[in-house]
Amino acid sequence: MYQYDDFDQSFVSERVSQFRDQVARRMSGDLTEEEFRPLRLMNGLYLQLHAYMLRVAIPYGLLSSTQMRKLAQIARTYDRGYAHFTTRQNIQFNWPRLEDTPDILEELASVEMHAIQTSGNCIRNVTADQFAGVDPEELDDSRVWAELIRQWSSLHPEFSFLPRKFKIAVTGSPHDRTAVKFHDIGLILKRNAAGEAGFEVLVGGGLGRTPMIGRTVREFLPAAYLLSYLEAVLRVYNQLGRRDNKFKARIKILVHETGIEKLRDLVEAEWEGLKAEGIDLPDEELQRVRGHFTDPEYENISDQDHTFQVKQFENPTFGRWVRSNLAPHKKPGYAVVNISLKPIGGAPGDATAAQMEAIADLADEYSLGELRVAHEQNLVFADVKKSDVYALWQRLDEIQLSTPNLGLISDIIACPGLDYCSLANARSIPVAQRIQRRFADIKRQFDIGPLTLNISGCINACGHHHAGHIGILGVDRRGEEYYQLTLGGSADENAAIGKIVGPAFSSAEIVNAVEAVIETFLKLRKDSETFIDAYRRVGVTPFKKALFGEKQHAAA
Ligand code: HEM
Ligand code: SF4
Repeated sequence: MYQYDDFDQSFVSERVSQFRDQVARRMSGDLTEEEFRPLRLMNGLYLQLHAYMLRVAIPYGLLSSTQMRKLAQIARTYDRGYAHFTTRQNIQFNWPRLEDTPDILEELASVEMHAIQTSGNCIRNVTADQFAGVDPEELDDSRVWAELIRQWSSLHPEFSFLPRKFKIAVTGSPHDRTAVKFHDIGLILKRNAAGEAGFEVLVGGGLGRTPMIGRTVREFLPAAYLLSYLEAVLRVYNQLGRRDNKFKARIKILVHETGIEKLRDLVEAEWEGLKAEGIDLPDEELQRVRGHFTDPEYENISDQDHTFQVKQFENPTFGRWVRSNLAPHKKPGYAVVNISLKPIGGAPGDATAAQMEAIADLADEYSLGELRVAHEQNLVFADVKKSDVYALWQRLDEIQLSTPNLGLISDIIACPGLDYCSLANARSIPVAQRIQRRFADIKRQFDIGPLTLNISGCINACGHHHAGHIGILGVDRRGEEYYQLTLGGSADENAAIGKIVGPAFSSAEIVNAVEAVIETFLKLRKDSETFIDAYRRVGVTPFKKALFGEKQHAAA
């Protein structure tokens, strides 16, 4: 994985000492909260409903066991013994005390981590595929490009005060796991007819109150030009993006108002000028960064491991977990192991300090000392020998991390909602928990099959509700928590925005409404059709009828 050089380390350490000084001035009253606000936000420190919240970046979702152990120690020492993994490969601490935050940042800097650019109108943490480097179908390792973008975008002087925040994702696999089409810029690694590597570049994707799917601004960008092209897009956005209205400031609105054709012309014209400026990196620099992501020394082992096969047969609980939580690895004899952070009745994406420490130990023992964070708020061991999988599962089971529900209905994405967030209309976590309990029977979950259910506590859509096969949005109805259902969203390569099915449900009704959707699907499904395929075949009408009856359906 990438290792900080002297420049990176001193840059991060200097920021910590500046912040220590700023916090001291806030504590002594030299700075008002208003003066302090932009300073704390530049260091990822938000003020939430009950306390400060610190958001820490996990670049392209990659963590060493040492870093994970440090995160656990921070959760235990400075927080309430747990932390929350978000939908953009960040981790959030919900209860830090202001006076402790410089120490927390110093602890983070000691393991090459920070909270810079996790807030504010800048280029945020660049995300990548959690299976990068190990996926058998991958064209190229998305982490290499995400790291280059990270270096280029860190405190980029021209792009530190954009009209609004800016999110970039990179995927190197035909199957998208990064929600690439819902990013301000989405980069999809491709090869042209001559076999050369490059990117399809999408712009203007996003969720929030105006969800949009990114549009292709360039079908094929030769990889060597990535940075100059990104610079061109950002320049056009920085100049023309709306600063008059916060809700219209994202690049998606610029794309919508300008039209993709005109925007493309503007970007290409800007790029022509930039190409000559020497922004793009020479090949040896690309190779240097790539050198940080070379394959570990895999063992030459057979893909068939007898014990692994037998254990699945002997122990159906293990077998079920293997079916839902394992993914193929490019090397024979290895597997990718997903750890669900969605135990039935837990808070989606939360892990305790003890669990994080145990995971760090397991990463050392079974997965070459590294782990990954997925945007679905789960964790990944990318390099596990099949012969070790049974032992690993037993150890995960001891720490309540063997939930066999990856990609199933209880693997719910949820934002913090009204339990923590000052912008929320309604609670997300308790709704997720109630749905999980209703569908706790794992056989029933397997029968329902692959399904994404996403919950946001308000229209900002941090819980990706627009992109869930089933989406739930918290709304305020005369001071009461209500929930709007959407159906048919999707965050993968066939991205789609869910459709609102009708009037919102009360908190007491929402779980029954989800169940009515599921029962309708089970009745109309053909063979082993998935929920999203069935929805795409039949449309929203049968679901509306089941939810609102014939009469209201006609009126809706
Ligand atoms: C301090 C708590 C949070 C605040 C104040 C907050 C605020 C916001 C706002 C205002 C937006 C809409 C921005 C726009 O469209 O311009 C947004 C979007 C988003 N947030 Fe949060 N958020 C918080 C926590 C989280 C958490 C915990 C997650 C992940 C679980 C998250 C992930 C996202 C994502 C994925 C989007 C939408 C993607 C996009 O279109 O940009 N946020 N957030
Ligand atoms: S979706 Fe709304 S309630 Fe949920 S974290 Fe984002 S801003 Fe808060």
